[in-house]
Amino acid sequence: MHLHINIDHIATLRQARATSYPDPVWAAAMCELAGADGITVHLREDRRHIQDRDVLLLRQTVRTLLNLEMAATEEMVGIAREVKPDIATLVPEKRAERTTEGGLDVGAARSALGPAVKTLQSGGIEVSLFIDPRKEAVRAAAELGARRIELHTGDYCNATTIDKRRVELERIAAAAEEGVALGLHVAAGHGLDYPNVGPVAATPGIVELNIGHAVVARAVLVGLDRAVRDMIAVVREQRPL
Ligand code: PXP
Repeated sequence: MHLHINIDHIATLRQARATSYPDPVWAAAMCELAGADGITVHLREDRRHIQDRDVLLLRQTVRTLLNLEMAATEEMVGIAREVKPDIATLVPEKRAERTTEGGLDVGAARSALGPAVKTLQSGGIEVSLFIDPRKEAVRAAAELGARRIELHTGDYCNATTIDKRRVELERIAAAAEEGVALGLHVAAGHGLDYPNVGPVAATPGIVELNIGHAVVARAVLVGLDRAVRDMIAVVREQRPL
């Protein structure tokens, strides 16, 4: 199982104060040093967290795999063709959403997605489609020529009862099985956290997880003790108690 870390929210913290830190480029290096198999960033059309500069620098510094999540727009396809991430994951994007709320409607968006998939692939970029865990969506992704899919695990993560969670997990398992049968590389992600990741990681056929918010949120807390101690050291150097 490969773990790709999504570092968007390192950039969210930076953009909250328009500072130059924390830098996603540094964060990516630390994730890789800790053993991450890939780095994922979403360059949103509104540039709310990751900036163009981040993607350009990450392309030069990431040693594992760089996965660029993006909408299938002309602008983003152009940027991807220039930057050449290892993988481009096409996601649906709505301005008002807090995060990517669902998978691509591959059937309905076929006319927009098809050319984007081909243009990216002809630029030497692997294309993944972020889809809901439904067999029809998996088949539609394969028909569009994608060789990778990422199953949206949001409904599983948001399920409020054990029964609903089981149903969602079964859907994920069936979609993964369909993906494997079609020869696709099957990833999963969205909303995965320390308590809920286990059953998804154990699902046959899923070979990659993309996890962001939970890891960055935990980093803030597990790193807080050290950060406070470091600041105490700096201020007490001037004014010991
Ligand atoms: N995969 C995709 C395609 C996403 O859009 C996101 C969120 O940007 C993630 C994975 C990671 O989700 P989370 O931050 O909830 O772990």
